[in-house]
Amino acid sequence: MTSPVLHDARPDSPRVFIETYGCQMNTYDSSAIGGILIRNGYTRTDVLADADIVLLNTCSVRELAEHKIFSRIGELRSLRRHDQIRAEIIGVCGCMAERLAGALAKGTGRADLVAGVDQYDRLPVMLDELIEKKPRRAPVATGHLDHMHYVAPPEAYPTNNSHLVTIHKGCDYRCTYCIVPETRGPQREKTPEAIIAEIEGIVGAGGAEVTLLGQNVTAYKSPELDFAGLLRRVAEIDGLDRIRFLTGHPCDMDEPLIQAIADLETVCPWLHIPAQSGSNRVLKRMKRFYTSETYLDLVATARRMIPDVTFSGDFIVGFPGETRDDFLRTLELVREVRYDQTFNFKYSARPGTPAARLEDDVSLEEKKARLAELIALQDDVWTELAADEIGRTRWVAVEGKARRPEGAVKARTLNNRKVLLKDCDAVTGDVIEVRITGCESTTFIGILV
Ligand code: SAH
Ligand code: SF4
Ligand code: F3S
Repeated sequence: MTSPVLHDARPDSPRVFIETYGCQMNTYDSSAIGGILIRNGYTRTDVLADADIVLLNTCSVRELAEHKIFSRIGELRSLRRHDQIRAEIIGVCGCMAERLAGALAKGTGRADLVAGVDQYDRLPVMLDELIEKKPRRAPVATGHLDHMHYVAPPEAYPTNNSHLVTIHKGCDYRCTYCIVPETRGPQREKTPEAIIAEIEGIVGAGGAEVTLLGQNVTAYKSPELDFAGLLRRVAEIDGLDRIRFLTGHPCDMDEPLIQAIADLETVCPWLHIPAQSGSNRVLKRMKRFYTSETYLDLVATARRMIPDVTFSGDFIVGFPGETRDDFLRTLELVREVRYDQTFNFKYSARPGTPAARLEDDVSLEEKKARLAELIALQDDVWTELAADEIGRTRWVAVEGKARRPEGAVKARTLNNRKVLLKDCDAVTGDVIEVRITGCESTTFIGILV
């Protein structure tokens, strides 16, 4: 565990606006960056126009995500030129900083600072130098470190009841389409003691719920504990009411882990286990190391052992060589599993990954058509699942006021389904019993029983 370098606090307290893209690991890191900068005399602001420094925490997972950032930098620079924002520093952090530092610092990007995912403790020094010396060249810090683990302090986190806790970083799988092992580096664990201390801090600050995070949390392995052991240990923390985790890799989900989820009352019965494809031929070329049959066995075992378990997953359509028949296997899998939610993506070739050497031979039109078909099927699956819930009573944890309508609160069932309670005066953290009366899109409507 590293604590940030404590630099001389800046009396002028420059205001930092952080814009976060990508996955929850980036959300967590943005909180960590906020914490590091606040401890070094900077202030965090939620108002872009007020910021002296804008940091973009970026994602490289698909080409479009990177395009978005290059245009966002252009847009911010233009706002600055026209005095619509005052930020003198527009910096880039996150996965793109790691992968495209050169292009960002010098080339088309023209960012004022580039800091990769293991370099955030250097941000105060880098920013101080930028502010004081105004160098002509953008400072760049990248590269992966063994020891670097962040703690997002509770005070830097936007809500106070539910917190993210990254338990390891990087990934040792090498799925052939994926850029994450390059941008995040190899898998490196936080120690169980550090994780427990962090969660105890969250509970001490009033939090009751954590989501344990990692590219593959289920592959967590310290010398003393695997993920099942860690879950058992975290579940012993006094005052912690709910534990969720993301993402699970189907290959790490063994029976002892499923048993731990089933045994532990505070571990929510919801599994996010991306399948990516239902075709064994495609799965093999993706190097996912399971088949649709073993995946379905896993789902069946979880259903048998964990009451009320729900599933969500990710899918990629149009992987190189994916035929119509391969795609039909994906639809079959989605129909069989009956996910609550799927996150569906068109394959995007990432430079340097093994799949990028394969011919990207499914046309964009075909990818779009498959994506639409998959989304439509999942909508049907969800409509059926939702209809089955109407009239049931469920325990929900209240997450806060809903944006709309006035007087409504948003809540979540233990198995991660969203519920809107209209005209309800329950407050964040309350756990109440409700009857499900309807469903609007992916959110149930409930009333107190
Ligand atoms: N570690 C997780 C998630 C990784 S990234 C896992 O193993 O499942 C989140 C999702 O983005 C992936 O699950 C995958 O569905 C999608 N994804 C990753 N690389 C992609 C690519 N090159 N093109 C399209 N989608 C991709
Ligand atoms: Fe990427 Fe695969 Fe690692 Fe997930 S498991 S982060 S998809 S390489
Ligand atoms: Fe994107 Fe990096 Fe997360 S590539 S999905 S922000 S690990």
